[in-house]
Amino acid sequence: MAKISISKRAAVTPASAIRKLVPFADTAKKKGIRVYHLNIGQPDLPTPPEIMNLIRKFPDKTLEYAPSSGMPETVSAWTAFFQNKGFPYKKEDILVTSGGSEALIFTVMAIADPGDEIIVFEPFYTSYAIIAAMSNVILRPVRTHVEDGFRLPDKKLIENKINRKTKALILCNPNNPTGTLYTDEEVRMLADLALKYNLFIISDETYQEIVFDGKKVLPFSNFKDLLPQLVITDSVSKRFNSCGARVGCVASRNREIMAAILKFAQGRLSVATVDQLAVVPLLNNHEDYVTGIRKIYQNRRDTVVRELEKIEGAAFRTPMGAFYIIPTLPVDDSDRFAQYLLEKFSDKKETVMIAPATGFYKTPELGRKEIRIAYVLEQRKLERAIDLLNIAVRQYNRLK
Ligand SMILES: Cc1ncc(COP(=O)(O)O)c(C=O)c1O
Repeated sequence: MAKISISKRAAVTPASAIRKLVPFADTAKKKGIRVYHLNIGQPDLPTPPEIMNLIRKFPDKTLEYAPSSGMPETVSAWTAFFQNKGFPYKKEDILVTSGGSEALIFTVMAIADPGDEIIVFEPFYTSYAIIAAMSNVILRPVRTHVEDGFRLPDKKLIENKINRKTKALILCNPNNPTGTLYTDEEVRMLADLALKYNLFIISDETYQEIVFDGKKVLPFSNFKDLLPQLVITDSVSKRFNSCGARVGCVASRNREIMAAILKFAQGRLSVATVDQLAVVPLLNNHEDYVTGIRKIYQNRRDTVVRELEKIEGAAFRTPMGAFYIIPTLPVDDSDRFAQYLLEKFSDKKETVMIAPATGFYKTPELGRKEIRIAYVLEQRKLERAIDLLNIAVRQYNRLK
């Protein structure tokens, strides 16, 4: 009899790069060391009372299943959200998902078969690699560089990665993990490529309103010809400080994609009823709230940039969106340095946790000297956290 075994898919799926340092952080905390978390994109800001009050006051006696495509109120609210931004989506173009994560899983599953390829710009959000591995889809990375603020490369370079297995391009704008806001020209170039080679565009819009200095994202949905090839994945997690609400959506004018995704959604029955209802008021009217958090993150961005500039040998470009930055640090190995911060370093019983950037690259050996910082702490804590990084870089290099 054959030996019992798990799937090959399970074996090749990577563990979350961000979480592998957690045991070291736990040990540091047990030793009484305060750890400033710059490693994970969990906003520290309170969930708005509009959401919390609806959760607390939920009146029904039974928590029933919601429809697989989403509560009607929530589908309408996502529709209003898109229409308020000028996007051409109606109720039938939208399906509510359990966060942007499930929207991405469904989209990849609906677009690509095992062995098909999706082009992604590296460094990229680590869950893309997990989702691709779960669905036996190959991510084809196109490299971007810290030196130019992770701008997209020439069209030719991207074209070179397209082959007959390529099904889609994925772009997160503004970007996690780099904080890059892609220019109108970059967005237009990808739209042109998708049209020329008949590719889908997966547009991850999780951070779309968190853009600084008065700038704006050029949305893919502005390109009318592209609409049948465009799938938007979105989420309330970051823009409403509601990561635990687990409400996202897929939006597409492509009927076949939406019909396929509805079948997948029926397989998981529904998204949590209370959470879906709780986010309705803010989705219906998002601008004021989002304007407030945009200001907060812009101030934090300025703080991080100012403090990082004090680290001798650090190199980066000022990020223009989301709440992340990837600087190069003068260290030999950011994985080792990240572990050192938690295992060996402390200053006045405090240390800092960062994400080594290697976890955001698919190509081995890239990102060795880079780290990702999520600026999800208030101003003074941020200043102290980056100061700790500065002290630690010097001590680490002295030890070597
Ligand atoms: C780029 C990006 N896409 C999607 C997600 C998914 O978030 P959620 O499932 O909470 O909506 C995240 C979360 O960090 C993200 O950073």
